[in-house]
Order: sequence, then structure tokens, then C-alpha cells
Amino acid sequence: MTIRFRATFESDAEALSHMMIASWRNTYATILSSTKLDEICTVWLTPEKFLQRARKTDAVNFVALHEEKIVGHIFAKFSQIGSLHIVYLYVAKGFLRQGIGERLLKYAIDKAEKAKSITLGVFSDNLAAFDFYTAQGFKVVGEDNAKDWQCGDPTGVKMERLL
Ligand SMILES: CC(C)(COP(=O)(O)OP(=O)(O)OC[C@H]1O[C@@H](n2cnc3c(N)ncnc32)[C@H](O)[C@@H]1OP(=O)(O)O)[C@@H](O)C(=O)NCCC(=O)NCCS
Repeated sequence: MTIRFRATFESDAEALSHMMIASWRNTYATILSSTKLDEICTVWLTPEKFLQRARKTDAVNFVALHEEKIVGHIFAKFSQIGSLHIVYLYVAKGFLRQGIGERLLKYAIDKAEKAKSITLGVFSDNLAAFDFYTAQGFKVVGEDNAKDWQCGDPTGVKMERLL
């Protein structure tokens, strides 16, 4: 299977929204409440939000394509403390465990020349993602009480890899 990687274009916004909503619903069906999932999909995963992210210059933004269809995405922001923070790293169902997540992460790291570390937050119940990041050399550096999510229930951890 041939997978192509490139920077995200503004014209990807609609397709990206579609892929990300499907991936979120698949990943978090048993982790987040359906109300919270609906809210995230309608507030944060809209084509408008992906368009805004595609225009950001202080961020890393890539897609993985299979036959011109988006099957993976990474979006990470540079923080003021000199780290690159992964906001989204998602691979579509049907394309998991084929090295796409690892390659997207590598593209992000290659762009993070000046960053001292790469960081993220992951829900403790998201075992696949936790195992993935552990396999990529990330270590748990603290708790993430998911206050940004304002959904109370799921707890998470902050992970970091020094670059
Ligand atoms: C996390 C995610 C991006 C990983 O992407 P992926 O393309 O499936 O992962 P890769 O094929 O690059 O995996 C690389 C290595 O990570 C580890 N790994 C990946 N998925 C794993 C899983 N489900 N269970 C255990 N280890 C896993 C393995 O060591 C794997 O190497 P191997 O397949 O040779 O054993 C993907 O599972 C995903 O999109 N999950 C849903 C969204 C999500 O949770 N994103 C993270 C939010 S913080």
C-alpha cells in the first residue's frame, strides 16, 4: 500500500474534518460521553477550524494520503517554553499499525529543529495511543487532569520525549 505524506493545505479542511470526526468517534466511543464527543466534533473538528490550523505558521501540520484520500494527520504547536506540543495525531481506522503514525511523528520532529522536547497529553484509557507513544520513546512526566476538556471524568497523563 502506497502512502504519501505532505504538508496540510487549506483545501484539505473539509476532508480533514470528515476523517478526524470519524477517528474521534472510533477512538473515544468508550472513553468520552456521547455529549462530549458531539460537542468536540461540532466545535473543534469543523472544516473552519482545520482551515484556521492550516494557516498557522507557528505549527507543524501534515497529512498522510492513500490514493489522494486523507488517512492520517498530525498537528503540533510550538510552545513558548521551547517544546513542540502534539495537539492531534490520528490515523484512520483501516490504516492503523502500518507505520503511518510513526512516520507522521517523524515529519513533525524533523520540522522541530529548535524544539528541546516534544510533548502531548493522552487519556489513560487510550491504551493504543499510550503504547504507541511509549514505543516512540515518550515518558510519562505528570498527570493531565483533562481540565482543558472540561469533561471531568477521564484522567490522562502528560508525556514527553526529549529531542
Ligand atoms: C496512536 C496512533 C496515531 C498510532 O498510529 P499507527 O499508525 O497505528 O501506529 P504505527 O503503525 O506507526 O505504530 C508504531 C509502533 O507503535 C506501537 N503501537 C501502535 N499502535 C499500538 C497498539 N494499538 N497497541 C500496542 N502498540 C502499538 C507498536 O510498537 C508499533 O510498532 P509495530 O506495529 O511494529 O508493533 C493510532 O493508534 C491512532 O490514530 N489512534 C487513534 C487516535 C489517537 O488515539 N491518537 C492519539 C491521541 S493522543
